[in-house]
Amino acid sequence: MSELADRHEASGKVREIYNFGDTMLLVASDRISAFDVIMPTPIPDKGRVLTALSAFWFERTAELVPNHLISIDPTQFPAAARETPDLAGRAMLVKRLTMMPIECVVRGYLAGSGWKDYRDTGSICGLRLPDGLRESERLPRPIFTPATKATSGHDINIDAETARLLVGDDARYEMLERLSLDLYEHASSFARERGIIIADTKFEFGIDETGQLVLADEALTSDSSRFWPAEGYAPGGAQPAFDKQFLRDWLEAQHWNKQPPAPELPDDVVAGTRGRYTEAYQLLTGEPFSAYLRRNGVTP
Ligand SMILES: Nc1ncnc2c1ncn2[C@@H]1O[C@H](COP(=O)(O)OP(=O)(O)OP(=O)(O)O)[C@@H](O)[C@H]1O
Ligand SMILES: [Mg+2]
Repeated sequence: MSELADRHEASGKVREIYNFGDTMLLVASDRISAFDVIMPTPIPDKGRVLTALSAFWFERTAELVPNHLISIDPTQFPAAARETPDLAGRAMLVKRLTMMPIECVVRGYLAGSGWKDYRDTGSICGLRLPDGLRESERLPRPIFTPATKATSGHDINIDAETARLLVGDDARYEMLERLSLDLYEHASSFARERGIIIADTKFEFGIDETGQLVLADEALTSDSSRFWPAEGYAPGGAQPAFDKQFLRDWLEAQHWNKQPPAPELPDDVVAGTRGRYTEAYQLLTGEPFSAYLRRNGVTP
């Protein structure tokens, strides 16, 4: 254990990062945030669902773009990580890249900061959209709306000019845009046939030692995307989040002021939320989440 702790590089809101030189280990915890606050109660296996989804999409999209995943099998991990309990199914060994300084956001529907910007200006990231669109409405076509990686708080939407300057190379910028749109098209039509709308999503890319663009970070999970149930989709207002809505609704009913600390979550809220995460996995992949756990040697 202490050997892995020595490798600790950074903590995100939900992930821990360990440094192994040319590779790194991304470990998804069971922490969950709602209204931008981390809950004091974890959701068992939530991190495993997210890792399972990233791994699923990396495999499905490998022909569109290479990705950083080396393995989710702990027997393939560096020695310091091999013996650590609880990593199975939740840790990804990845190739370390030089990260691009923009977040590659694709929006197929009008939500979140995209909806706010459109409502205020008629545009998102400088892209003019038709008048009269409603909240959560499907866009005429998916759009690429890059953002900066803010070190704290929310990412900031930027226009194409600014994003180009940050990337520093027009051809590379255009490649990022095209790959992001291709990935979104592929994943969103796949998910839509399985009852999930991917309203928007964020990709991160890096370059490897040969200068090739590689898909990194997590990909097409419900933490990096907005997943909505297709059933009941109704533009003209906010849509329920596929997996977090149950928790959000419960929190709203507690009249909590949305400032930390958040209330402890009761068992039924934990179980209900876990059930929504595993249901999303099953809908998307067609296999029960328990099969993923078994395949990856996770013993209850
Ligand atoms: N293959 C890679 N090589 C190098 N860095 C990577 C790679 N994949 C992801 N990263 C970086 O690792 C970090 C993952 O951190 P993580 O997402 O957990 O936290 P965060 O981005 O700091 O905060 P948040 O929790 O808000 O997302 C990000 O900075 C991401 O850009
Ligand atoms: Mg991040």
